[in-house]
Amino acid sequence: MNLKRIAAEKAVEFVEDGMKVGLGTGSTAYWAICKLGELVKEGLSIQAVATSLASEKLAQEHGVPLIPFAKLDGLDLTIDGADELDHQLRLIKGGGGALLREKIVAFHSKQLIIVADESKLVDTLGTFPLPVEIVSFAMEWTMDALRALHCKPMLRTDEEKLFVTDNGNYIADCHFEVISDAEELQRRLMGIPGIVDQGLFLGMASKAVIGHSSGHVNILE
Ligand code: A5P
Repeated sequence: MNLKRIAAEKAVEFVEDGMKVGLGTGSTAYWAICKLGELVKEGLSIQAVATSLASEKLAQEHGVPLIPFAKLDGLDLTIDGADELDHQLRLIKGGGGALLREKIVAFHSKQLIIVADESKLVDTLGTFPLPVEIVSFAMEWTMDALRALHCKPMLRTDEEKLFVTDNGNYIADCHFEVISDAEELQRRLMGIPGIVDQGLFLGMASKAVIGHSSGHVNILE
């Protein structure tokens, strides 16, 4: 059974005719975009904004009508994945490198619905390394500042080259193991010049739709 798919398809049930919808990135959001494409073919009328070039391409392939990112002007609903979420709906995102656009889209959405399989639900965030998007020209200084936060930052690579985001930046994956105070960590990270954004999404998700191996889907709010 595809747990990502059942969660994503359940979340799509919250999309109504006429809505402006944010399209997330990753292997779970993938299924939401495919389902939206099916519904559009059956007559659903929506306008969508994609959080990555990959999701933009997928939406185009599936006939989901897109508005350019620069024209973003308030969204009703965004459906996106997460790398980890806790029971307070605090998230780690950015495993796919799209965290900056994902956060902008989530911020401008009335609702952010997270779709995930049960493996993503944790008691305490931090096992998944926190993605931090950094500007390339200040990479060494920023990596030093991250080390001073008592984590092990690793520059993300892709086929032996440094991974570059859709925005032209690098990603430092920060191994904290346990994030005991996510709000304080967010405050400290965003105080470091050179960090463009970081993958903690706090107080942003309205609900999470979780697919379980038993075949059922539950909704956390
Ligand atoms: C993309 O940058 C991420 O925030 C994804 O939403 C997250 O990595 C979840 O991806 P999967 O659904 O592929 O696990």
